[in-house]
Amino acid sequence: MAVQISPSILSADFARLAEAAAAVPNADWLHVDVMDNHFVPNLTLGLPVVESLLRATSTPLDCHLMIEDPDRWAPAYAEAGAGSVTIHAEASKAPVRTLRQIRAAGARSGFALNPATPVEPYEDLLGEIDMLLLMTVEPGFGGQKFLDVVLPKIRRARALIDKHGGQVWLQVDGGVSDQTIERCAEAGADVFVAGNAVYGAEDPARAVDALRARAEK
Ligand code: DX5
Ligand code: ZN
Repeated sequence: MAVQISPSILSADFARLAEAAAAVPNADWLHVDVMDNHFVPNLTLGLPVVESLLRATSTPLDCHLMIEDPDRWAPAYAEAGAGSVTIHAEASKAPVRTLRQIRAAGARSGFALNPATPVEPYEDLLGEIDMLLLMTVEPGFGGQKFLDVVLPKIRRARALIDKHGGQVWLQVDGGVSDQTIERCAEAGADVFVAGNAVYGAEDPARAVDALRARAEK
């Protein structure tokens, strides 16, 4: 699968989200971190902002729900028009049902694992998942240091995905930069979230191109 870059607007100016979207016309997705101050110790935005953003950009939204009770809220993000909706394994009590509801509403279904959550227990769910997200930091904040400890899990996830036909996209999120993206790509990731590495750069669009070039190497 071709490399895809998903800039995280968590590192952008929340008063200028439309401009943040317009700054990266070469991005494949815009990554939207929804945090509820319960599942993670940070609070960001929710459905009303996602709905506004959908009207403000044609770039598909990659909504990453770091919230408790995603089973209750995820389908609404898909119904609103998000291109992809990701729920956390640690928070969902009915992942099969929720992943199916996300797909039924027309979005890609995403399933996320925190750094310490193993991938093997979820092998049988791969058929329900369009994108597996492996967190490469503890979720909650942008600008954290990439956790090398996750690299072996990226390799094992890639092997499981390939064993099941290879359709599931493998996303990494957290500390992805010029310095770390090659290691992630080499381990088998193909969708790369980058917050600080894009919006902390002087020229966000150039940063997207540079990340893509490194991942494709
Ligand atoms: C962290 C979020 C990430 C965050 C990544 O909990 O899920 O999407 O924005 O930011 P960077 O790339 O700066 O680590
Ligand atoms: Zn995220």
